[in-house]
Amino acid sequence: MPSADVQKVSILGKESIHCGFHLVPYIVSTVLETLPSSTYVLVTDSHVAGLHLSAFQAAFDERNVSRDARFLTYVVSPGETSKSREGKADIEDFLLLNSCTRDTVILALGGGVIGDLVGFVAATFMRGVRFVQIPTTLLAMVDSSVGGKTAIDTPHGKNLIGAFWQPEYIFIDAAFLETLPAREFSNGMAEVIKTAAIWNENEFAALESRSAEIFAAIQTPSAAFSGRTLASRSPAQQLLLSVIVGSISVKAHIVTVDERETGLRNLVNFGHTIGHAIEAVLTPQVLHGECVSVGMVLEAEVARQLGVLGQVALGRLTRCLRAYNLPVSLADPRIASLPAAKVLSVTKLLDIMKIDKKNSGPQKKIVVLSRIGATYEPKATVVADSVIAKTLSEAVRVVPGIPTKSPIRMATPGSKSISNRALLLAALGKGTCRLKNLLHSDDTQVMMNALIELKASPSSRRQACRGSNHLVPQGASFSWEDGGETLVVQGGEGSLSVPPNGKEIYLGNAGTAARFLATVCTLVQPSASGERTVITGNARMKQRPIGPLVDALRANGSDIAYLESQGCLPLAVAPAGLRGGHIRLAASVSSQYVSSILLCAPYAAEPVTLELTGGQVISQPYINMTIAMMRAFGVDVVRDADPATGAPRDVYRIPKAAYASPREYSIESDASSATYPLAIAAITGTTCTIENIGSASLQGDARFAKEVLEPMGCVVVQTATETTVTGPPVGQLRALGLVDMEPMTDAFLTASVLAAVACAPPLAGRELADGSRPATTRIVGIANQRVKECNRIQAMMDQLAKFGVETKELDDGLEVYGKPVSELKEGASVHCYDDHRVAMAFSVLATVVKGTVIEEKRCVEKTWPNWWDDLSNKIGIEVEGVELSVSTSVASASRLADQGSAASVVIVGMRGSGKTFIGQLASSALEWSFLDADEFFEKKFQVGVREYVQKNGWPAFRAAETDVLQELLNTYPARYVISLGGGIVETPAARDLLKGYAKKGPVVHIVREVDEVVKYLEAEGSRPAYGEPIIDVFRRREPWFVECCNYVFVNYTGVLTDSLQADNAPSTTNIRDEVARFFNHVTGQQPNLAPNVTADSRSYFLSLTYPDITPALPHIDKLTAGVDAIELRVDLLRSPKDLDELGAYVPSAAHVTDQIAALRSKTSLPIVFTVRTVSQGGQFPDHAEKDAFALFHTAIRLGVEYVDVEITWSEKHIQALVAQKGHSQIIASWHDWSGNMHWDGKLVEAKYRIAHEFGDIIKLVGKANDLDDNLALHRFVQRMRSSVDAKPIIAINMGIEGQLSRVLNSTFSPVSHPLLPSKAAPGQLSFAQIQTALHLIGQLPTRRFFLFGNPIKHSMSPTLHNTAFELLGLPHKYELLETEAVGEEIKAVLASNDFGGASVTIPFKLDVIPLLDALSPEAEAIGAVNTIVPQRTAGGGLMLYGDNTDWLGISHCIRAALPANVNNPEAALVIGAGGTSRAAIYALHKLGVQRIYLFNRTRRSAEVLVNAFPNIKIELIHELGTWPADGPAPTIIVSTVPASATTTDPDVENALYLPISIFESSAGGVVVDMAYKPAETPLLALAGNQSKEWKTVKGVQVLLEQGYVQFQLWTGRRCPKALVAERVWSAYMAA
Ligand SMILES: NC(=O)c1ccc[n+]([C@@H]2O[C@H](COP(=O)([O-])OP(=O)(O)OC[C@H]3O[C@@H](n4cnc5c(N)ncnc54)[C@H](O)[C@@H]3O)[C@@H](O)[C@H]2O)c1
Ligand SMILES: [Zn+2]
Repeated sequence: MPSADVQKVSILGKESIHCGFHLVPYIVSTVLETLPSSTYVLVTDSHVAGLHLSAFQAAFDERNVSRDARFLTYVVSPGETSKSREGKADIEDFLLLNSCTRDTVILALGGGVIGDLVGFVAATFMRGVRFVQIPTTLLAMVDSSVGGKTAIDTPHGKNLIGAFWQPEYIFIDAAFLETLPAREFSNGMAEVIKTAAIWNENEFAALESRSAEIFAAIQTPSAAFSGRTLASRSPAQQLLLSVIVGSISVKAHIVTVDERETGLRNLVNFGHTIGHAIEAVLTPQVLHGECVSVGMVLEAEVARQLGVLGQVALGRLTRCLRAYNLPVSLADPRIASLPAAKVLSVTKLLDIMKIDKKNSGPQKKIVVLSRIGATYEPKATVVADSVIAKTLSEAVRVVPGIPTKSPIRMATPGSKSISNRALLLAALGKGTCRLKNLLHSDDTQVMMNALIELKASPSSRRQACRGSNHLVPQGASFSWEDGGETLVVQGGEGSLSVPPNGKEIYLGNAGTAARFLATVCTLVQPSASGERTVITGNARMKQRPIGPLVDALRANGSDIAYLESQGCLPLAVAPAGLRGGHIRLAASVSSQYVSSILLCAPYAAEPVTLELTGGQVISQPYINMTIAMMRAFGVDVVRDADPATGAPRDVYRIPKAAYASPREYSIESDASSATYPLAIAAITGTTCTIENIGSASLQGDARFAKEVLEPMGCVVVQTATETTVTGPPVGQLRALGLVDMEPMTDAFLTASVLAAVACAPPLAGRELADGSRPATTRIVGIANQRVKECNRIQAMMDQLAKFGVETKELDDGLEVYGKPVSELKEGASVHCYDDHRVAMAFSVLATVVKGTVIEEKRCVEKTWPNWWDDLSNKIGIEVEGVELSVSTSVASASRLADQGSAASVVIVGMRGSGKTFIGQLASSALEWSFLDADEFFEKKFQVGVREYVQKNGWPAFRAAETDVLQELLNTYPARYVISLGGGIVETPAARDLLKGYAKKGPVVHIVREVDEVVKYLEAEGSRPAYGEPIIDVFRRREPWFVECCNYVFVNYTGVLTDSLQADNAPSTTNIRDEVARFFNHVTGQQPNLAPNVTADSRSYFLSLTYPDITPALPHIDKLTAGVDAIELRVDLLRSPKDLDELGAYVPSAAHVTDQIAALRSKTSLPIVFTVRTVSQGGQFPDHAEKDAFALFHTAIRLGVEYVDVEITWSEKHIQALVAQKGHSQIIASWHDWSGNMHWDGKLVEAKYRIAHEFGDIIKLVGKANDLDDNLALHRFVQRMRSSVDAKPIIAINMGIEGQLSRVLNSTFSPVSHPLLPSKAAPGQLSFAQIQTALHLIGQLPTRRFFLFGNPIKHSMSPTLHNTAFELLGLPHKYELLETEAVGEEIKAVLASNDFGGASVTIPFKLDVIPLLDALSPEAEAIGAVNTIVPQRTAGGGLMLYGDNTDWLGISHCIRAALPANVNNPEAALVIGAGGTSRAAIYALHKLGVQRIYLFNRTRRSAEVLVNAFPNIKIELIHELGTWPADGPAPTIIVSTVPASATTTDPDVENALYLPISIFESSAGGVVVDMAYKPAETPLLALAGNQSKEWKTVKGVQVLLEQGYVQFQLWTGRRCPKALVAERVWSAYMAA
């Protein structure tokens, strides 16, 4: 036997698991010697074969000396698809063909796929033959190879067919892991961590702290078979093997005790109940271990919810998984970015879990962890669906009631600042210290790991010991007690050394740890090796400033180098000890610098005098906290005082000393967190005691009880270390009057929700002299809360409004007007802006208001991860999981923005390219704030840019400008549009900042034609002159813009668009529409994707086959009738000079950009960007791969929505494109021109799989030879669509015979149009033809639509809708239903089977509401419905949905007509107070108009309207033409009164007189008259008669616009606007 040291593990009573390194010869000999046979068959996959098969072949040839045994090998393709019935049959055929008999021994060499497949073959071949597992992935080593489970997959699910079949041997050769991709290694680590988590805490602790070493063991290849023998095995290899063997031993033990999986063996399924359900949806993009990783965290949360598992254990589990690069939540970008992740609903997951093998009957089972290393039961535990649903759901509903646990005693999570300090103090101190109530956060974990790495290494220890006979302390060490509740720190007395072998200390994004550790590293004792300590972090960390601290330390003699950017991590710190003496530090940026030096100062060579410079010291309380804690660890810091006044100075004296750790240190609870349970006591009239926080607290928020709750009427008892609050009976909280919350700003959210229900008057002396209402709480001193996780003041106002609570914003705070609980609105759904404090504050209010939903429950994880569990388990308020429905937002006329990704937009470009103009339009489209860097600069430096340059020169200006950029990016990371100066790209540091930012947010380059820019600049003078020709500047900067930006917005203002804008057809998209489309798309606020594709409804695109599309532009509206997108066949484009070029051709990026810009000027439809190669039926050269991808990247940068990428291109390029695609989507396409592809064959399936891998949409095109080919296609599509990981698929057959497939295809059917020059492909049909065909084959039944109202005889709506139906080939009909009232007739229509939808007009817009099932948020806000949409529910029922499109019609018309100089209209006037003016007011509010004047002849009805919109500022005016004293004249006027009731003649009686003075605004504006008759109403005529620029909008225009939206809501199709408008206008004129 060859010499190899193997470690054996026994399973089922046999030592059949053999583990070691480089075992191939050992394996072959063992098999030959102990499993005699005539035939050995090795099965592997092609990856593994390429790497390791030859070694087996060689070993076999060498040892099979007598040559009497055969050695056959069979290689399958890698991946899960081989684990199929076909895959199994292929191997069996191979064995049979080779006459293998019962004595055959099969060797399974590979990952779990090979092991499972080959194992199953062995189990049934000749009724079972012997086999051997040689796992090559970590997952296979520790999991799939051990236990004897074998299986294959079927389309119905994974592992559904299989057998228990035990291998003769399992050979674990850990050297195979050296070739395994890192992601696969992590995948296996999930199972290793799982096993440790359920079974062995020590093992877990090793995994937790030694991740880096474990990675190192597989990353460094072992040369010359090192590791084969014990003598040659490195410590890292030793560690790796012990981890693997440890994990296997547990599994082997469990399998031995319970081979057939009845009880105990279920334990290894920890994380798998939920993990498998996730995997079912996300496979194959997400690996098994990755799904299980998320599953473990979720199942541990289930355990926590059940009150079985503590948060500490959950935190450790989460961080440990993260350390091995595993995802820990479904929000992980690797998961969330997948299209399949969208279907991960709670219902879906629970549904999949139903068929879990572990279930007993309908009950689901989960392995419930009770602590790290142990489970609640020795088997899986039955868990109720509601519990699982609660964990899985993203939102919660709080059930109001009296806390059942009152009187409550609890501790809230430890303070983060105190935890960080305590950890460092105890680690530097002498003796053992038990830290209680430590907050486990990334900061503390990172700090612990770093301190462990900084402890004396063995070599330096040996050197240090030489010559001395006492043992040098070995740095700090950490261990857990009380199931993880207590951290035991063994202090290292300041002994620190450089981590061995150049290892860098990685701090992730833990800011506090970075600041504290920077000084700690200077304490490291000198070493012989001369190496430095390197601390580094993630990309974000590398941008966070640390300069002032490093400057201070350098000035004190420390040798610290920046390894990348100046002023940021990574740092290399020379080990030289801290010198001490006088240290000067600029402390105006962060108090953490001060604390960092203070904490380390006692270990300096000389006593330290720390002097803070730079004026204003920020956050003094944190410095005081540090000093107080140092005192608790035995070191007294003395602060100097001014001898004259006794006032403290910013000079601190720290003695040279060692910290003496107390035996126990209890970390104070976080005072901000404590406000929530205390507030619950206050609002529910119960009692709550928070242990561990009292009057002696170091935290400002500890004053909340005394200064806020007590004056509200609570009884507060506070000792030095405890706080107890008892609330008054429910409903008796007092308003506060004025309260300054400057010392406890974070607690203002808690105060606000209490103030909302505080309706008793304030205590005597606290009333507001000027307070308008008796129950007012005015909170001030909290201006900084506008720049926290979100603008918290705005957030509180917006969310309180949902409860009907009124508020008012102040400069540095807000006023809240208290209301009795009984008057608050129930069922509010609170949006949390991903801000933990918003979520927790509103859960306080939710304890008294029924049905409150808190939308993003996970945002509490930042400070109180188990808040929801504590709320139910410790406080006694029940919490339910809620699944937010996605459908409502899709159906609504104005889709809600995705709040998730709101990274600010940065805009750059040449001066004069229109940055400010475009930026402002973008900000209004996004409803974000706009920031001009130049203006910001001027404010900051109190001097204009031009003057600054004159005074200080260009270099100084560039430096200052870069600082400003950094500041802007840091301060306004979300929901801003930031426009930068054109020269910003001249500075390399600024370019780096921009490039860095482009990784997380859009950096948009605004491009305008050079000559236009030149023209513009000649007329402008506020910026300094260039001093060189503009064109040179242009040339120089161009490449920098390209390099820094991830998007390009084309703002062509010159010739091209001039000629295009000439005709004023309504289809012309103006610049506003294009800005809105582009910025909503690239920011992901409202990606411009085709809604029908997402909703899985029929969708179409028009193929544009022009060599130059400009001639088609005037007809775009006609051409695109009904379609969802436009396909631009880029390979067919020819620039003007090449128009006659035939055959393969590569169009230039510039030409393509121009073509797209031209198209955009006409339509906002999504564009499908297709580059079809010659071999796939197009004209793009087959081998110009680079050119093709350059064009694809151009498309993505231009915000093109869909890019068609052929799957034949190389994977590397495709992956790079996918990484860049942002919110655009990839259509992965394959065309078979040969006619050889069969829809029931293997080829198409393989192509589907490849396309599925990277495409968001799959496109497969074949050729039909007969009708049957279409049916086969249809069956294929049905099959693919029913699989769990289905993606939208375009599948068609070319040729005349294939036409049926074009009718049946449901996603993006390519259509042509009779007006187009040539069809893009043979057999293409038009949109209308397809509709007709669908109708004829019963796929598009006739529906009836109605107008409800009175009188309606002259309505234009039937013309509008019936024209549109006709043009689109839809078989529907629109009719009038004039009735006296909303009664039986209308009800009957609504209930009829063929009801398609209805418009509702005067006077029924309010009356119809009670007949409907749901309203859109807009209809709800407006309080009126003009559109009814029937929606078929999943269960087959019908739901009537009410919407309002009036407001969209109004706002669209206003936006389109608004003159450019009134970009941000300040004031508007609404005339009339009926149902339509409600929509007008809402539209104006949505347009951002600050002041809305309302005029109505009867004041009473006007007041009703004011009250209906409590959150919109509406000012009643008494006389037309007279505005409020401080109010500007309106630039928008909307009249909603009948034209016949108005006059411009002052002498006419009984009519509303319209004076010319209403058009007073000097800038001009827009006037809309909603009256239909006559076309030119007195109001519009009047507008035309005066000199200023007033644009007029007729009632019919608004009718058309709202009708277009209505039509789309009903049919899912865009209305063919131009033709419809034409017909409506001519009918109107004729009437
Ligand atoms: N039977 C069980 O108890 C059990 C338990 C868990 C998982 N499984 C099954 O295991 C399968 C997953 O196993 P897997 O994760 O090992 O996947 P796998 O077999 O597909 O291997 C993953 C990838 O790594 C490659 N590879 C394997 N070894 C390599 C090496 N040493 N160097 C380079 N590349 C290498 C493979 O070719 C493959 O591309 C699934 O089918 C799952 O159902 C079974
Ligand atoms: Zn598993």
